[in-house]
Amino acid sequence: MKSFEYLSQSEKETLRLGAELAPYLRWGSIVCLFGDLGSGKTTFTKGIAQGLKINQKKVNSPTFVLLNIYAGKKPLYHFDLYRMEETGEILNIGYEEFLYGDGVAVVEWADKLGDLMPKEYMSVTFVHQDNNNRLIQFEPRGKHYVGMLKKMSQSRGGMKSKIK
Ligand SMILES: Nc1ncnc2c1ncn2[C@@H]1O[C@H](COP(=O)(O)OP(=O)(O)OP(=O)(O)O)[C@@H](O)[C@H]1O
Ligand SMILES: [Mg+2]
Repeated sequence: MKSFEYLSQSEKETLRLGAELAPYLRWGSIVCLFGDLGSGKTTFTKGIAQGLKINQKKVNSPTFVLLNIYAGKKPLYHFDLYRMEETGEILNIGYEEFLYGDGVAVVEWADKLGDLMPKEYMSVTFVHQDNNNRLIQFEPRGKHYVGMLKKMSQSRGGMKSKIK
C-alpha cells in the first residue's frame, strides 16, 4: 500500500484518527508530521496520546521546547521543531535516545530534520483545505509502516477514506 488519505471534517475526527493509529505503534515507532501552521498536527498528536492512554490535555502547541515527554505505558516523545533553526539544537539534547527510544516518537515539522530524517517512519501530511476540512495523507516509509497502514486502513471498514 503506497498511501491512504482521509478527509477530516472536524477537530474531533482528526483526534479520532490519531487515536486509531496509536494501537499499531510499537516501542521505537516514529510518526513524522508535515503541513502548515494550524493544519492539525498537534490535534492528531493529542489523538495519539489519547490512544496511548496518556492525558491528551498535556499535549500542547506552540511550545518553547523542542521535545516534550509524556509518561505512559509506552512513553510519547513529542518533538515540535517549528522553532528549530539548525539540527545542532536537537543533537545537543541527544535526540536519538528519544527518536529511536523506548517509546513512540511523533515529530511535528519533521521536514526540519533534514539529514537526520529517519530511514523508516510513518509520514502523515496535513493539507488545510477550507474551514474545518483537512486532507490527511498517510505515506509509509519502510516495511514496518506499510504493514501498519494496511492493518489500520483495513480496520476502518466503511469509513470515508480512499486507498491508492
Ligand atoms: N478537521 C480538523 N482537524 C484538525 N484541526 C482542525 C480541524 N478543523 C478545524 N481545526 C482547528 O485547526 C486548529 C489546528 O491546530 P493544531 O495546533 O492541531 O495545528 P498544528 O498543525 O499543530 O499547528 P502548528 O504548526 O502551529 O503547530 C485547531 O484550532 C483546530 O480546532
Ligand atoms: Mg502544532
